[in-house]
Amino acid sequence: MRSSSSASLFLWGLGSLASAACAKQCTYGDHPQIIAHTGEPVGREEMYNGVNLYISEPECKNPKVAVLYLTDVFGIQLRENKLLADSFARAGFLVVAPDMFDGEPAPLDFNEPGFNATEFTLKHGPNATDPILDKGVAYLKERMGVDKIAATGYCFGGRYAFRLLADGKEGVDAAFAAHPSLLEDSEIEAITRPVSVAAAENDTTMSPDRRFQIETLLQETNQPYQLTLYSGTNHGFGVRANVSDPQQKFGKESAFYQAVRWFDAWAGGAL
Ligand SMILES: *[C@@H]1O[C@H](CO)[C@@H](O)[C@H](O)[C@H]1NC(C)=O
Ligand SMILES: *[C@@H]1O[C@H](CO)[C@@H](O)[C@H](O)[C@H]1NC(C)=O
Ligand SMILES: *[C@@H]1O[C@H](CO)[C@@H](O)[C@H](O)[C@H]1NC(C)=O
Ligand SMILES: *[C@@H]1O[C@H](CO)[C@@H](O)[C@H](O)[C@H]1NC(C)=O
Repeated sequence: MRSSSSASLFLWGLGSLASAACAKQCTYGDHPQIIAHTGEPVGREEMYNGVNLYISEPECKNPKVAVLYLTDVFGIQLRENKLLADSFARAGFLVVAPDMFDGEPAPLDFNEPGFNATEFTLKHGPNATDPILDKGVAYLKERMGVDKIAATGYCFGGRYAFRLLADGKEGVDAAFAAHPSLLEDSEIEAITRPVSVAAAENDTTMSPDRRFQIETLLQETNQPYQLTLYSGTNHGFGVRANVSDPQQKFGKESAFYQAVRWFDAWAGGAL
C-alpha cells in the first residue's frame, strides 16, 4: 500500500486521536496542541539497569500502551527529540526514550573537529544498541506493567524499530520508522509484526530506488505495512524539520500522526 497524505486525511487523523490510548480521559479537545515543535520538554530522566531513560507520561492514569522512542544520532539530548517524545505522551502514550549513546551523541555538525562518523557508527552497532533497547522494553514491561509497546524510530533509530519486530524479539507489537538509515534487507525480511514508514523526498540514505526495494520487501513480509512519501522534505524531517516551511511542517506533523494512527490500529492504542 502506498498512501499519500491529504489535508482531509490529516484532519481526520486529528479527530481520531480522541480515542488514543486513554479512552475517555484524554481527548483531542483537551489537547489542541498535541504536537509541539518548540518550548520546554516536560519529561524526566531516570536510570534503569545502567541505561538513562527519558520518560514522558500522559496525563491519564495507568496507560496500558507505551511508546519506545528510538532517537536519531543526536540522542535524547536533542530538544526536538524530547519534544516529540512529549508529543506522543500528549497523544495518550507512556513514552520511554533510552539514551542510546550513553551521554555521547553525535554533534549536529558531523564536521566538528574530533568527531569521526565511521568510528561512531562502528561503536554503536547492533551489538551495542540492541541490549540498550532490550532494557527499555524491560523497563516498560516489568517496572511499568504496560500491556503493549509500539516502537517509533528516527534515522539511526528507525533501523532498530525494524529490528525489534524480528522473530525471537519479545515485547514490541508494532513499529514506525521515519527515514531509517543503515536498514538492511534481512532486517526488513525478518519482521513478524506491522510496520509503517515515513520517507523523505530528499534522502541520500533512502533513494527512490531504495524506497521501491523497501516497498517490495515489505510486501513480501505478509505483515500490515505502510510507506508514505512526504514532498518537500529532507532526511531527518520527522524530528528536525524547518517548521517555517509549510511543506516540511506538514510532513513532520503528518509523520507523527501517521505513527499515532498506526499504534492505535496495531498496538491497541485505540482499545
Ligand atoms: C575514523 O575512524 C575509522 C575507524 O576507526 C578509522 O579507520 C579512520 O582512520 C578514522 N578517521 C580519522 C580521520 O581519524
Ligand atoms: C561492538 O562492536 C564494535 C566493533 O566490533 C566494538 O568496537 C564495540 O566495542 C562493541 N561494543 C560492545 C558493547 O560490545
Ligand atoms: C531537495 O533537493 C532538491 C535538489 O537538490 C532541491 O532543489 C530541493 O530544494 C530540496 N528540497 C528541500 C526540502 O530541501
Ligand atoms: C526555513 O524555512 C523558511 C521558509 O521557507 C526559510 O525562509 C528559512 O530560510 C528556512 N531556514 C533554514 C534554516 O533553512
